[in-house]
Amino acid sequence: MQTDPVKIAVLFSGNGTNMQSVIRQVKQGHINARIACVISNQPGAYGLTRAQRVGIPTHVVAHNRYPSREAFEKALIQILETYQVRAVILAGFMRVLSEVFVNHYRYRILNIHPSLLPKFPGLHTHRRALDAKELRHGCSVHFVTTGLDEGPVIIQAEVPVFDTDNIGSLVKRVLVKEHVILPLAVKWLCQGKLSCMDGMAYFDDSALEKPIRLIERHYKELL
Ligand code: GAR
Repeated sequence: MQTDPVKIAVLFSGNGTNMQSVIRQVKQGHINARIACVISNQPGAYGLTRAQRVGIPTHVVAHNRYPSREAFEKALIQILETYQVRAVILAGFMRVLSEVFVNHYRYRILNIHPSLLPKFPGLHTHRRALDAKELRHGCSVHFVTTGLDEGPVIIQAEVPVFDTDNIGSLVKRVLVKEHVILPLAVKWLCQGKLSCMDGMAYFDDSALEKPIRLIERHYKELL
């Protein structure tokens, strides 16, 4: 039995291709959610245009206009509360969130990160993977906790790294996978299949001892 769509919000800082991938899957009916609003901390973010085009309410909360991280996060919460969102999706949101925000939406925040966590938390993941001569790179969706990119990982997708790669080619290869694993995780969250407790992620009530690996059959869930 289909329940009411889950109200979610997407936060981003830039281009917004990951947000777009979630919008697409919601629109096609593969995710039982309603994107109540999106918020960017960057006024010029192209993602704002993407959301406006499909009639999703957009907000800008420019972090540099607030005296502290906490004040910025309280402003985010104030907007999200007016929409009564149940979950928050970080899709290229380039601000670290403190416990003010994380505890407010405890275990209801997902983040997409461009590396195979716990490898390469933080910034410049593609450059660091190339410098480290990694043979495999990829992306992860995890529950957000207060540690930087440290929350329990739900799903990961791998890509090969070639000798001929540069940052641009690697970014592109990883993004293709991001656009699959982020909507998948959002879908599962909205279905109530995903949960998190005491620093452990659960899928269908079974503890995820290690992250789910993206495999062929997962694609059918987004067809
Ligand atoms: C994506 O690669 C995402 O994984 C990354 O920012 C990019 C946003 O692209 N996020 C982080 O680095 C978070 N630490 P997009 O705006 O096209 O979705």
